[in-house]
Amino acid sequence: QAKTGSVPHRPQFHFSPKAHWMNDPNGMLYLNGTYHLFFQYYPDATVWGPMHWGHATSKDMLHWQELPIALYPDSLGWIFSGSAVVDVNNTSGFGKDGKTPLVAIFTHHNDKLEKAKSDKFQYQSLAYSLDEGKTWTKYAGNPVLPNPGITDFRDPKVRWYAPQKKWIMTLATKDRITFYSSPNLKNWTRESDFGKDLGAHGGVWECPDLLPMTHNGKQAWVLLVSINPGGPNGGSATQYFVGDFDGKTFKPYSTKTKWMDYGTDNYAGVTFSNTGNRTILMGWMSNWQYARDVPTDPWRSANTVPRELSLREVDKELYLTSTPIKELDKLNGKTTSLSNVPVKGQYDVSAKTGQKSALFKLALSVPAVNDFSVVLANEQGNELVIGYEKSTNSYYIDRSKSGKTDFEKGFGKRHTAPRIATGNTLSLTLVADVASVELFADGGLTVMTDIFFPNQPLNKLYIKSATGISISGLFTPLTKAVQ
Ligand code: FRU
Repeated sequence: QAKTGSVPHRPQFHFSPKAHWMNDPNGMLYLNGTYHLFFQYYPDATVWGPMHWGHATSKDMLHWQELPIALYPDSLGWIFSGSAVVDVNNTSGFGKDGKTPLVAIFTHHNDKLEKAKSDKFQYQSLAYSLDEGKTWTKYAGNPVLPNPGITDFRDPKVRWYAPQKKWIMTLATKDRITFYSSPNLKNWTRESDFGKDLGAHGGVWECPDLLPMTHNGKQAWVLLVSINPGGPNGGSATQYFVGDFDGKTFKPYSTKTKWMDYGTDNYAGVTFSNTGNRTILMGWMSNWQYARDVPTDPWRSANTVPRELSLREVDKELYLTSTPIKELDKLNGKTTSLSNVPVKGQYDVSAKTGQKSALFKLALSVPAVNDFSVVLANEQGNELVIGYEKSTNSYYIDRSKSGKTDFEKGFGKRHTAPRIATGNTLSLTLVADVASVELFADGGLTVMTDIFFPNQPLNKLYIKSATGISISGLFTPLTKAVQ
């Protein structure tokens, strides 16, 4: 049997389950040197079905070990998305013999009630672990938050709100976010609603997260909201709001719609609990528009590279920046520097570096004066193009000729993203892993994540500019993290 890592299109350092269907990351948390990832998982097929929580752990968020399934469907329903917290003060009372409980807060989705046309088929429940996430016990008092009659009532993301010593649950409730609070994770009080008349509403709101962050020494809160469909390049995507939160109400500073990632393949991203000053997000690297159709076997879907989030101000607006976690440097091979290389026509990076695979990081610094592109290619004529277009001041990823594209009619497209930064020099970091590319432009102000499925591995790398450009940067091959 082939090793996992040698199967076509298998990501080499992004997490993907060995087999079967995965969607959203769930319950991510850090505890005693270990990162835990749970995920929406259907262990009986490579398409979506009755949801479980799969489980994997890692010391660095790059080398993952898949573990037995953590949560199985039960009489209350399938186990939809949610979060997990380290209940340090044992507010829940689940702790025993001095053991700190981990508490998972998730949506039970009751398909029988759904089929019976009830509105109340989604509600929130708890499970806890006293052995650092290895085994979980469902709470006998489930559900802890019954459904008030809202068809889409799901994806609880819970965090401790220290100023008022209470838990805050951020919940997606169809076309808005509802905040609840609780002293003990078991009894929940509705605090407020947000967003019915703000932001993008091309689809249902899902998988929110509320993050305290600092900017210039001042606290601000970021509210992430995934929507499906209605993304800037079609299908699923994640928007965000920056504002204040007082334990009850979220007040945005601005009414501008902002997108965390303009690519089509970063959805339902949320952050890890218990990571101290670091805010680390991982998303599902796919899109509901075609996730069930992508040509991989025996699994479907991977996660994005974990990203560190910060805030940055541009023209009096606060924006989220995302950059790959610093741990990614651990996979660095031998770096080649490119300094003031004139590119007119085509520059062959693979010839210069000896690189023969789409497993690398490329950091470029380029004057914002002309069009240019980075092209991943192979002998079959498959091409994945990442570029900058001067006339529209935008970045793009074009996967229309990237290989297998006809499994879904909207897949083979060119995606665009506005440049948000204003300086004269473009800075781009590209992270490529066999079947995905992640563009972090201008320090992560504009981000694009796209997946693709070449007929043969993309083993060539070029930089192109018809009008001419001078580039500087670093090319770094990455080593694989999967076996
Ligand atoms: C988002 C989502 C969530 C839901 C889960 C079900 O991708 O639709 O809203 O909890 O997937 O698998």
